[in-house]
Amino acid sequence: MNIDILTIFPEYFAPLDVSLLGKARRNGLLAVQVHDLREWTHDRHRTVDDTPYGGGPGMVMKPEPWGEALDTIAPPGSASRLIIPTPSGRPFTQALAVEYAAEPRLLFACGRYEGIDSRVADEVRTRMPVDEISLGDFVLAGGEVAVLVMVEAIGRLLPGVLGNADSVADDSFAPGAMESLLEGPVYTKPPVWRDRPVPDVLLSGHHGAIARWRRDEALRRTARNRPELLERLDAGSLDGHDRDVLREAGFPVDGEGMAN
Ligand SMILES: C[S@@+](CC[C@H](N)C(=O)[O-])C[C@H]1O[C@@H](n2cnc3c(N)ncnc32)[C@H](O)[C@@H]1O
Repeated sequence: MNIDILTIFPEYFAPLDVSLLGKARRNGLLAVQVHDLREWTHDRHRTVDDTPYGGGPGMVMKPEPWGEALDTIAPPGSASRLIIPTPSGRPFTQALAVEYAAEPRLLFACGRYEGIDSRVADEVRTRMPVDEISLGDFVLAGGEVAVLVMVEAIGRLLPGVLGNADSVADDSFAPGAMESLLEGPVYTKPPVWRDRPVPDVLLSGHHGAIARWRRDEALRRTARNRPELLERLDAGSLDGHDRDVLREAGFPVDGEGMAN
């Protein structure tokens, strides 16, 4: 996969050289180019922002450098998808990460100040898909951290990046049967640490019992931490034991779905 990132702070992306994604880049599984937006300015101060029309506090990113940069990096006719992080976008999810991981090329535009002049997204949308994406209901100082998060979530899904591809299928939010369930607790050696033993079932070698325990724990943790996710569970996929666990956790299920 090819990823191009446009930013006024290229140094923010140094972490992409380390760990899993650094290795993926060195192995040729992922190509990331980081571009300094100021390369496409023409004044002595390399200005990228100006005051907002209509008044109000803060500054807005000027459209001209963005237009020139995007024309250069993704000329008309090139196959790309532009992602603009913004708190007013639609939420970033694991399902979206899976969708993006199937694209051959992604462009990311990191906003700063009060964001990018809206005409940039409108103009680029005439020649490629443009997605405005939020990382959550909070406000960051700039799009760089949001892009780092998205690139990591997407990059670890690329074939060959994770040592064991099965671990993706077990993740919280992984598309499939467990999509609405959080992953339960995990343990490693030693079997007892500070008088705290690992649950016996995990040492039993009984795969069926381990799978059942993991599902019970996933149901309990989801009920405790993200009860709204239970609304999305397909009631038809729940067996009697699932229903017992959910009832004990305070979420009784009737034939149609959650009863409360
Ligand atoms: C200070 S924020 C601008 C916030 C803007 N005034 C608003 O309320 O929508 C500057 C930049 O940070 C990034 N950003 C901030 N919060 C974000 C979030 N929750 N998700 C994605 N990007 C975010 C965006 O690139 C945004 O253009």
